[in-house]
Amino acid sequence: MTEKSAKFDKISLGVCYYPEQWDESLWEDDVKRMLDMGIGTVRVAEFAWNVFEPTDGEFTFELFDRFLSIAERLGMRVILGTPTATPPSWLTHKYPEVLNADINGVLLRHGSRRHYNYNSPVYRKYCARIVEKMAEHYGAHPAVAGWQIDNELNAEANHFYSDADSVAFRAFLREKYENLDGLNRAWGTRFWNQTYTDWEEVFVPRKTSNGAVNPHLMLDYLRFISASVIEFVGLQTEILRRHIKNGAFITTNGMFPDIDNHKMTSEKLDFYMYDSYPNFSYGTDGRGGYDYGDFLPDRGVSRDLSVARSISPNFGIMEQQSGANSWNIWGLSPAPKPGQMTLWAMQSIAHGADYVSFFRYRTAAFGTEIYWHGLFDYDNRENRKTAELRGLARISEKLSPVTGKKYRAEFAVLRDYDNIFDSEVDRWHSSVMWESEDGIFRAAELTHTPFDFLYIGERTTVDELAKYPVIFYPHALILTEKTADLLEKYVRGGGKLVLACRTGYKDEHGQCRMMPLPCLASPLVGVDIHDSTAVARGDAITDIIFDGKRISSGIYNDILTPDEGTEVIGTYDGGYYKGSAAVTRHALGDGEVIYFGGTLREDAARAMLEHFSLTEPYADVISIPAVCELAVRGEYMFVLNYAHSASVLTLHRPLENILTDTVESGEVTLPAFGTAVYKMGN
Ligand code: GAL
Repeated sequence: MTEKSAKFDKISLGVCYYPEQWDESLWEDDVKRMLDMGIGTVRVAEFAWNVFEPTDGEFTFELFDRFLSIAERLGMRVILGTPTATPPSWLTHKYPEVLNADINGVLLRHGSRRHYNYNSPVYRKYCARIVEKMAEHYGAHPAVAGWQIDNELNAEANHFYSDADSVAFRAFLREKYENLDGLNRAWGTRFWNQTYTDWEEVFVPRKTSNGAVNPHLMLDYLRFISASVIEFVGLQTEILRRHIKNGAFITTNGMFPDIDNHKMTSEKLDFYMYDSYPNFSYGTDGRGGYDYGDFLPDRGVSRDLSVARSISPNFGIMEQQSGANSWNIWGLSPAPKPGQMTLWAMQSIAHGADYVSFFRYRTAAFGTEIYWHGLFDYDNRENRKTAELRGLARISEKLSPVTGKKYRAEFAVLRDYDNIFDSEVDRWHSSVMWESEDGIFRAAELTHTPFDFLYIGERTTVDELAKYPVIFYPHALILTEKTADLLEKYVRGGGKLVLACRTGYKDEHGQCRMMPLPCLASPLVGVDIHDSTAVARGDAITDIIFDGKRISSGIYNDILTPDEGTEVIGTYDGGYYKGSAAVTRHALGDGEVIYFGGTLREDAARAMLEHFSLTEPYADVISIPAVCELAVRGEYMFVLNYAHSASVLTLHRPLENILTDTVESGEVTLPAFGTAVYKMGN
């Protein structure tokens, strides 16, 4: 499979701009200032359908032609958005069937954005036409460097309930099951008398008496949404590819729920872009002085960046936060503190971004986003953010040798879309999954242990897994024979695999297997599970004693009965199952499988990382305080200081800091929000 990575010849900066929202007399000065600040690419047009097609079938390109000719003359590269995220009002008025509906079937009207459904044949026809017209017109334009499909697919609306969606859902299901018997079996429709006798009885989820919807239907519904998005993207990329004559790339920006981004990118796009707004993770309720400890919330974005990296090892940031971000109808969020905007851009780069584009050039003077601040404010004067951007442009020059370098991880966390979608419809699933993913992420961050997410798909090979000495796949409730087989090959070949509670008891429809737990994983883990329970607030503490440490057992505990030959390496220390096996080790081929009976909270995940001697992998070179993140691209080590005050690192040998062109050693002070990038020996 060809790698779907961004290919920039250097770490590049960009910005989002809306020529149609500003007086034309500002354009040239704006573009000149962008270039002067070090911005070489601008994204435009993703909401401008009306500008291109003011009435049905009347196409005009003058406005963007004039903007693009300024860009071309001054040497600015352009990313053009297809404008399908905001259909014009003449279209939604004439054909209300293109609108999305809520679960009651009430249409979601014109006036905001993303007011459409992917499956309306009318909408698809109009989208295909506008994309074709734009592609014909701009497919060879020398200033156009790339295309963005739509904008933030599935943002704001990721569930669709229009009539067209029910029609398309039926077609999706007919292809999958061929006949209603297959569908009735897969959805367990004997339960509560849901048996379907005619395809016309099948709908996307609808409002029910108590809110419950058949969980197996829901699982297929989320798969259907993802397939609808991918088809919608494909409809556009097929047209663009026919017309692009200048090597322009095709991408889109994310990331939002219910899309298999990996499939979408590998089948339809050239690479993936992420939109990074780290300030979302800070509360905006006006309480200053809150103590977050060593894990500051903006650091949480590194988790999504790691997902973006799993889609495209080198990706782009289409929208990087540059100011306070709120709409007029919600939020009251702080501006990035001096230095923080740069830190967040460096966070993106540290994780593999080779392109970072800021949102937005100038704050909108009208509309819902008047508080979604950009680099420039309404007054259009230079300010501390624009000064910071100039500094970042200088830094990005220094970062040239990092371009195209890949992130270096010490272990991997496996994910797959069946389990992600199932966790959305199954509360037990999401509870255990998010607790462990959070625990592993925080433990890895705080112990400076870089890790990757690896998504298992139809085409995943054992070689992809074998790149990692240790793999966590904490709660694969859905485990297919194919995946169990892949895992077994990985372990037999020498891999160390960590599974945790609730593994394996569902099939691909989300139905429970009538087998001893952990079902298809039993031969892998070498344990039997006769009893398991959620841990309630009033229950006795059921900690685990593991490697001589007391660690949390989390919110759900499987009580393990080891097979002969399986070693018990952790024991419950409380509750009615005190003394029973909680953690086991099963040697298999050249590798081993650890089964952790609970969920992996931060302390448990940390104990597990320590068990495999994974933590602080660069301890011989550098000591880093917990509040700082370590990320490694090729031979370059990024240290990011999230603290709002200075942090002190200790270099155990002299290292070149490529940002300052100095060789540093011993104690080094990183200022608040500062980053250092050290070149290691190979
Ligand atoms: C992004 C979106 C932009 C803009 C920004 C501020 O999610 O792609 O178009 O709306 O948020 O809301």
